[in-house]
Amino acid sequence: RIQKVYGCEILDSRGNPTVSATVQLTDGTMGTAAAPSGASTGKFEAVELRDGDDRRYQGKGVLKAVRNVNEIISPALEKLHCLTVRDVDSLLQKLDGTPNKSHLGANATLAVSLACARAIAAHYRMPLYRFLGGAAAYKLPVPMMNILNGGAHAGNNIDIQEFMIVPTGAENFKEGLRWCSEIYHTLGAQLKARGLSTGVGDEGGFAPDLGSDEEAIEVVLDAVEKAGYSGRVHIALDAAGSEWAVDGGYRLPKRGKNMDPEDLIEYWTNLVSKYPIISIEDPLGEEDFPAWTQLTERIGSRVQLVGDDLFVTNIDRLQQGIDAGAGNAILIKPNQIGTLTETLLAIDLARRSGYNTIISHRSGETEDTFIADLAVAVNAGQIKTGAPCRTERVAKYNRLLRIEEC
Ligand code: PGA
Ligand code: ZN
Repeated sequence: RIQKVYGCEILDSRGNPTVSATVQLTDGTMGTAAAPSGASTGKFEAVELRDGDDRRYQGKGVLKAVRNVNEIISPALEKLHCLTVRDVDSLLQKLDGTPNKSHLGANATLAVSLACARAIAAHYRMPLYRFLGGAAAYKLPVPMMNILNGGAHAGNNIDIQEFMIVPTGAENFKEGLRWCSEIYHTLGAQLKARGLSTGVGDEGGFAPDLGSDEEAIEVVLDAVEKAGYSGRVHIALDAAGSEWAVDGGYRLPKRGKNMDPEDLIEYWTNLVSKYPIISIEDPLGEEDFPAWTQLTERIGSRVQLVGDDLFVTNIDRLQQGIDAGAGNAILIKPNQIGTLTETLLAIDLARRSGYNTIISHRSGETEDTFIADLAVAVNAGQIKTGAPCRTERVAKYNRLLRIEEC
């Protein structure tokens, strides 16, 4: 049984408030978790409840969400007789009563949902990934490591949000992570030698000004080659294309370039034939299902096309995409939907429909490593959790290293 749930306002990696929840069971076992926060958020995500009180944290306080944890969620969960993640989450959904968690806030519900899973795992004395995944959990994910940042995550002149390296040829997680770290440092040294900025963006990737987005791909590939991993490390991109959508078309804000959906489809088709790109996330906008379908028909057999803002970890949106043949993979961000159970349902639907799954952090993170355990629990195969720089990113990699070792 649940004794009490304690909510608390803490800070995320951008210094903005977020919700932490601690669940205490009647046997004294505890579990704590925190909600992350996005910057390039999708329009169809569950609601992140913020106070809007300009006197605190420029309106970004989460005291209302914390109050919802302490005054609404805790008393209701204390009465719950059957303690499973599923029961907790269905009660959270019922208490909220809206399709997008706008009543309690997805930051409140997610923190509680994850903290409950941790507490129950601790009650059974099981590692979190083993509790969540059972005997079937065995596979460490391949990192899609963001080493060069642009878009809304950086103050530079690059429009594509994330340039990632994927150590496809590595034998195991530990090896792949080492390659990525070496490439990251090689890239840093190369930028420095050219007199370019080695300051980092929100997810720890470098954020230099460059001549073009293609040049960004080339500097990453140079670093891969210089570090000695050509052919064994591939490129993945997150365009965050919803950020570019303007009525019926697209505008790349930093270059000031306008494009039709057809131009953008052509752009991606050329880019994947020119460079060793194996995955593109949100190449098009979150409302442009027809263009997504066209692009998937064009290059979907060669490249992973990942819906992040398009699907927002929501089974209704994902089903719409499956029916339309839009994309072939889903990015999984638990705070886009607000409970662990709904997150697992999205993963399950993706699986059954032949879509790949990538477990992901947000650009605003905390030291919470839940997603590392989740990736192993569901054998997701891939994880996105930033550069090997900034502790909120590295904490997830370290958790995975420890899971692999024991
Ligand atoms: P966000 O970015 O957390 O700012 O939404 C991450 C992503 O787009 O994948
Ligand atoms: Zn994304």
